[in-house]
Amino acid sequence: MSSIQAHGGELVNLYQPDYDYTGVTKEIELDNIALSDLELIGIGGYSPITGFLGQRDYEAVVEGMRLADGTVWSIPITLPVTEEKAHELQVGDQVKLVQDGVVYGVLTVSETYKPNKEKEAEHVYRTAELAHPGVRKLFERPNVYVAGSIVLVNRTQKDKFETYYLDPAQTREVFKERNWKKVVGFQTRNPVHRAHEYIQKSALEIVDGLFLNPLVGETKSDDIPADIRMESYEVLLKNYYPKNRVFLAVFPAAMRYAGPREAIFHALVRKNFGCTHFIVGRDHAGVGDYYGTYDAQLIFNNFTEDELGITPLFFEHSFYCKKCEGMASTKTCPHEKEDHVILSGTKVREMLRNGEVPPSTFSRKEVIEVLIKGLQQTVTSN
Ligand code: ADX
Repeated sequence: MSSIQAHGGELVNLYQPDYDYTGVTKEIELDNIALSDLELIGIGGYSPITGFLGQRDYEAVVEGMRLADGTVWSIPITLPVTEEKAHELQVGDQVKLVQDGVVYGVLTVSETYKPNKEKEAEHVYRTAELAHPGVRKLFERPNVYVAGSIVLVNRTQKDKFETYYLDPAQTREVFKERNWKKVVGFQTRNPVHRAHEYIQKSALEIVDGLFLNPLVGETKSDDIPADIRMESYEVLLKNYYPKNRVFLAVFPAAMRYAGPREAIFHALVRKNFGCTHFIVGRDHAGVGDYYGTYDAQLIFNNFTEDELGITPLFFEHSFYCKKCEGMASTKTCPHEKEDHVILSGTKVREMLRNGEVPPSTFSRKEVIEVLIKGLQQTVTSN
């Protein structure tokens, strides 16, 4: 095991492929978010959480970013069901957790409760506007939460990037084999651009290894699809990163777009995967203008390093500066905005879909080639 402790002390492992659930008749159909949460709970990604949150924990997380016992936790992990379904369930029932006819887990019901979603939205997302993709999702999901501990009995079908799915126990093993004492985790839901590369490599200068850990669970429809992104990471690593200093594996969670709250969550989960450090740049996990550029960094001030157990590394907004002739940030570059190459994600996606090539000062050419090819195939196959 790597030297860093899992959040809460022990890495949870609730995967029991031989678990006997014959005789369990009740079932709950999972949406994609619940399925990815179930698997992440089961493999210990969400340690110390061992099931879908009960009301006490839920309220403590929503209001104070902690579980009821005080452990830091910023995103409620919940299992929403319809009122009709909730009426079928009794405390103590075992229930199969199913998607499309496949049983993935078994839940022992500890309670059902009605959340105050307005309050959840205001606290977790800092807005109740339905234009926010995370808030919209929150309100689209059914209105009763079922709580209880889980057993994971089946793993989800992996796509063609199967080798990049590793459990926390496995990534910890990899870091140990490589003798990495300090490992920095990098969350992304985008292709890696020069600014990402700059902050990753700046961080790598002071640690032993970089864990490139792109999120591949559910994202909003205009984000670049995960399979295209995966190819872009492969060509980037092959051409520009030292093999023995970087490890690529996917993070199968859904994106919440909860900005600051999600930055804390992302850091804690990467700690479970064995990271000692975690990168938080500008507008981490943000969407639109809902969060201030550095809100996702400021939120870390609410906690001591001890209770987080992972060290955040903060980076300023970075870009290519034509006068500096290199990557820089507002911290290191004295020049004017006009000298900086800054393109919004939306602008870049639009360029790529039109087959236009963003400048090499923005993104590596190998990455651009993969993205243009991938996105054009997506367009023609739709
Ligand atoms: S995220 O939603 O997964 O956070 P993204 O993939 O864009 O989005 O960002 C990954 C990480 O890189 C985040 O920590 C983010 O803050 C950081 N980041 C993205 N772009 C920049 C930039 N230009 N300068 C500094 N940090 C950045």
